[in-house]
Amino acid sequence: MPRFSRLVHAIEPEIAFEVLARARELAAAGKEVIELEIGDSPFPSTAAAKKAGAAAIRRNDTRYCPSLGIPELRRAAADYLSDAHGLDVRADHIIVGPGAKTFEQLFCEAFVDAGDSVLVFSPHFPTYTANILRRGGRIWFAPLREERQFRPDPADVERFFRVEQRPRAIFLNSPHNPTGGVATAEDLCLIADLVCGRDAMIFSDEPYDQMVWNGPHRSILEHPGMLEQTVAAYTLSKSYSMSGWRIGFAVADPEVVAALGKLTNTALSCVSPIAQWAAVAALQEDHEERDKTMLKFRRKVVLLSQGLDAIDDVSCSMPGGTFYVFPNVKRICERLDITSHGLAMYLLEGADDKLGVACLGGECFGPAGAGFLRFSCAQDDKQIKRAVDFLPGAFANTARVEQFLADHPRFRLSNR
Ligand SMILES: Cc1ncc(COP(=O)(O)O)c(C=O)c1O
Repeated sequence: MPRFSRLVHAIEPEIAFEVLARARELAAAGKEVIELEIGDSPFPSTAAAKKAGAAAIRRNDTRYCPSLGIPELRRAAADYLSDAHGLDVRADHIIVGPGAKTFEQLFCEAFVDAGDSVLVFSPHFPTYTANILRRGGRIWFAPLREERQFRPDPADVERFFRVEQRPRAIFLNSPHNPTGGVATAEDLCLIADLVCGRDAMIFSDEPYDQMVWNGPHRSILEHPGMLEQTVAAYTLSKSYSMSGWRIGFAVADPEVVAALGKLTNTALSCVSPIAQWAAVAALQEDHEERDKTMLKFRRKVVLLSQGLDAIDDVSCSMPGGTFYVFPNVKRICERLDITSHGLAMYLLEGADDKLGVACLGGECFGPAGAGFLRFSCAQDDKQIKRAVDFLPGAFANTARVEQFLADHPRFRLSNR
């Protein structure tokens, strides 16, 4: 076995992909699995995007292109941010990337040195920690509380600056994965006031900007001075169902964009021009299809959250945004002596021989997620209903739970 770096030992991959692999393995072995674990759209990529991607291949637009992105996509992205969110940005504020995730890494490479502290609200998107650790950053967790609808608390930002010796960066994510929490304009205003003018930067992760269920999407970028201190990441993965194309973009000050471009150049060279042309078409031509799809997502979120909330000992409010629901299952976990991730794995593997429901335990998003499950709505409505109907019987089958815990004692709550 080769000797790996400390990083390889330290980082944990996104567990959703491991559960997905297990779900597919069980399905290949003949079990019916309703997959609600992965945050992907069940819809096809939007029409103009597909056509433009195919056209780029046909005209042989299939070679290297600029590291910052093709000018057409940088312009289209700036227009999108102006039209959709009223932001005053131009093409030179934009850098293209293979999705939004890449910007977590580029942001940390650009701004975090070993020993610098980074505030992460938790539960959190799991790859934030890996990307901060890549740079030897120190992670300072602050809780997202259910009683605050999982909104970031500006008081935690104030405390971060007060108690940490080298506070350097803050990760914000609204609408939030996994909780569905949405920061209010007031939350963002208070946070902006605390950050503005300090030697500190914000990574504002906004993949769900089209999935705010009440009112318009708000970004910290709206606040004066914040464009100079923020890298905000957007993606076509969710709103245009383009996760497999690997295409997104970030907005920042042009000097920051140039620095991120250097990092992209040395890591990736460039993003596939095929995906970039598809994104140009999506942003310019597919908004009607996108909006219709968002309405379908909203209905699915209502269906799933109301269905879950009606189950005994489960409490689930309608999330403010995203296509995730994050029910509190603490009472069930305590009664069955099982961790919430154990409960998720039981629903997939142990509850029934023929049918399984794949979801994630809240712990997949850090210890602060314990006691919750995360379901995505990435299925047709009939399957969502079947999944909800499956749960009460599964929770009540104590013999099956006991057998599952005997086979997997690490999921016993009392073993923690
Ligand atoms: C909060 C958050 N950030 C980033 C990503 C990654 O998105 P992309 O597919 O655009 O890389 C996701 C995807 O699930 C997400 O939920």
